[in-house]
Amino acid sequence: MASTFLDRIYAAETDDERRQIYTEWAASYDEEVSVAGYVTPERLANALSDHADKTTPILDFGCGTGLSGLALKAAGFAQIDGTDISEEMLAKAREKAIYRSLSHIAPTDPIPSGYSTICASGVVSAGAAPPSTLGDLLKALPQGGHLGLSYNDHTLKDPAYTGALNDWIDCGATRLLFREYGDHLPGIGLKSTVYVLEKA
Ligand SMILES: C[S@@+](CC[C@H](N)C(=O)[O-])C[C@H]1O[C@@H](n2cnc3c(N)ncnc32)[C@H](O)[C@@H]1O
Repeated sequence: MASTFLDRIYAAETDDERRQIYTEWAASYDEEVSVAGYVTPERLANALSDHADKTTPILDFGCGTGLSGLALKAAGFAQIDGTDISEEMLAKAREKAIYRSLSHIAPTDPIPSGYSTICASGVVSAGAAPPSTLGDLLKALPQGGHLGLSYNDHTLKDPAYTGALNDWIDCGATRLLFREYGDHLPGIGLKSTVYVLEKA
């Protein structure tokens, strides 16, 4: 049986390999994850909307094709800016016409500042950005700012990701406001934990 992009992304070993997979995946991403019942963006957007100010601009970091933006819009966020490392994913996000702005950034670029809320749905993740990105996102927030993020089962199994999260909570630099383990891609039996953090 031909392997799916979902199989390929978790098996990728280098940044270049992952970037190439997202480039090829952009055209069929929405369909592949929708068929598997992708629900993390909605769970995360709803959790964020309970804690963050929906009237100020939100950064959808690693917005991909815009499924996370659609969920944020449905949850009541009105001004959504998106960034991604893949021009092809951004082109798909642009078609949805829900973002105030969309920008391409390189993995080594600084996280855009000036946002009191950042959403990272499936981005600080096995198959995407490294664990250190969690700290970069928190550093870009002002005191009292909110970060919503998700770790899927692959990511939860990697101590580097869970360790990065625990370090930020344990040292008191961020408060955990919400954590819920639930469906991610129920069609393939994958779950995720969604978190809402507040920068102390
Ligand atoms: C699984 S997709 C999630 C997309 C979208 N947020 C969603 O929920 O559908 C992961 C996204 O992260 C982006 N990405 C991968 N590595 C990244 C990095 N180092 N920094 C920022 N974004 C990255 C990919 O291009 C891809 O669009």
